[in-house]
Amino acid sequence: MRISEKDRELLLSRLHIEDVVGEFVQLKKSGSNYKGLCPFHEDTNPSFFVNPAKNICHCFVCDKGGNPITFYQKYFREKQGRELSFAEAAGELAQKYNIPIRILDGDPGRQDRLEKYYRITADAHRFYRDNIFENAGKPALEYLSRRKMDSAKIEANKLGYATTQWAGLHDYLINKGYEREDLLALGLVRQGEKGYYDFFRGRIIFPIYNQQGRVIAFGGRTIETGEGIPKYINSSDNPIFHKGKNLYGLERGRIIKEREYAILMEGYMDVLTAVNHGLETAVAPLGTALTEEQALLLKNYTPNILLCLDMDGAGRAATERAGFILLKAGFTYIRVIEFQGAKDPDEFLNTYGKSAFLQAVEKSREKDFFDYLYAYYAKDYDLTLVPDKSSFAGRFREFFSHIPDAVARDGYIGKLSRALEIEKDALAGELIAKNEQKEFRPRAAAPGRPAEPRGEDLVNPLETETLADILADPQNFRYYRFFDITGSLTKKIFQFLEENETEDSLRLCMGLREMGEINERERETLEDLICRSIGTSVNDGKKRETRTAEIIKAWFTREIKRRKKETGDNKLKFQLLALEDKMKNCIMLEDVLRIYREYEGFVFQIS
Ligand code: UTP
Ligand code: MN
Repeated sequence: MRISEKDRELLLSRLHIEDVVGEFVQLKKSGSNYKGLCPFHEDTNPSFFVNPAKNICHCFVCDKGGNPITFYQKYFREKQGRELSFAEAAGELAQKYNIPIRILDGDPGRQDRLEKYYRITADAHRFYRDNIFENAGKPALEYLSRRKMDSAKIEANKLGYATTQWAGLHDYLINKGYEREDLLALGLVRQGEKGYYDFFRGRIIFPIYNQQGRVIAFGGRTIETGEGIPKYINSSDNPIFHKGKNLYGLERGRIIKEREYAILMEGYMDVLTAVNHGLETAVAPLGTALTEEQALLLKNYTPNILLCLDMDGAGRAATERAGFILLKAGFTYIRVIEFQGAKDPDEFLNTYGKSAFLQAVEKSREKDFFDYLYAYYAKDYDLTLVPDKSSFAGRFREFFSHIPDAVARDGYIGKLSRALEIEKDALAGELIAKNEQKEFRPRAAAPGRPAEPRGEDLVNPLETETLADILADPQNFRYYRFFDITGSLTKKIFQFLEENETEDSLRLCMGLREMGEINERERETLEDLICRSIGTSVNDGKKRETRTAEIIKAWFTREIKRRKKETGDNKLKFQLLALEDKMKNCIMLEDVLRIYREYEGFVFQIS
């Protein structure tokens, strides 16, 4: 297998040495270069230099280094005992960084090899999962139960345990007939002076999946509280796992698409606790800050995101950074969830429960990322003083540099201008880089349509859609109030809305929760509905209208069909059929409403 000279050049022009090395070596900027500890010898004083201008790296002590491809090749050969040809290394890098090159002469073995890696990883997962319920897994069970993960949740989340044995997994997999070099390549096993040993030992194992739902890596949390032991370790990058290109929780991408929002959290436990509370759209980066690639990946599922990172200083700094990356990736709706009395969402949910969390979500409706930054930065200034005002405004430069479209930039400049009482043009001149001022790049249409109400045979799903739409915007109740609802909870909600004028979802939700008459099961259902409606509520007005139109259409069509079935009058049947067709062809809310009003009596009242 080989690659053409042209592809080699393309690849080298697109790969950045600091990115490729930066995956494996912690780099610090040093002038126009970067430096770090050399991965090829025992280095205590950073002697490994990375030169972005020349796109090469070099160690001044052991003399090793190379370009992005040869470095990658050497790194795997020396550190992981994986022999890669130049073309193989090039192919892996091309795939990882999404650079289109052609591998000549093919590699028919590749798919089989990947298949083998998937199988090994799945078997390792099975091994860890079984361990947890054995005698040796007792400390893990105890630890997890302190963290509110009982056996059922351990099963549901497919958690496992790596015992403290040195080579339990190694022996198990070798006995199954796998090759040792494959275990090394996957990073499950390492080679030390005394032989081969398991990478994960004495740790709770969190499976990490790809978007197709196959296990590709693991995270491991120590259950000891020792000094000097890293709390979490993760599988290293390998042929089936690239940390910067995967998100924890993305195997539930289908649900994110359906609900039209994701919640970004910081860690494994946050995501799992969220999922266990029915917040199934939670995701987290894998032990690093959110990368641009991860943001683009998530963007394939939804343009709407709620940031829910830790509430400490580091978490707030991470919120700022993540927000910038999401802006740049073109997310249209970014909100920040803030909470008090807990350091992270895991602790918050376990201490205060889902209702309290949903209230924090409701509160975040008033705060998009810009508003959040405004309050976050404002703490450092006295905005009654002119010089403070001016440096405060300067803090937004980075924010503006990450917004890809001119209209949105203009909107936020306006907002800042009104808040600070500073001329818009003056602000724009200060905060928006010259080359960006005129550029206008419309955003691509948001992916994913509202899920279509699924027709007249499913009564409950239609009511569910209806309630989600009302929770997203209580004003829409006026369209639905006369429909023939049957569910007990739906009835209570409709009654509440008849009796209490409310245009504000926050008040509606709280009111409903305080309404003593709903029982435990109804409360849970209501909370699930609120989870569903979060995505709808963040969509733009047009998109929301289209959805509302779909739901009204579904109700109306259902009624028409019922009438058609009941009547023996062929003429009426024919009229109803024509009406059904007419309705089917409407898309805009106003058209649907017009037909609805015109024929309401005809459909609903003749009997
Ligand atoms: P946290 O320390 O906030 O994790 O790190 P957490 O989820 O709250 O941990 P618990 O609740 O004490 O178990 C957030 C994430 O950063 C990564 C992990 O992915 C973790 O979930 N991390 C953290 C590491 O990769 N290594 C570490 O040593 C610590
Ligand atoms: Mn935590």
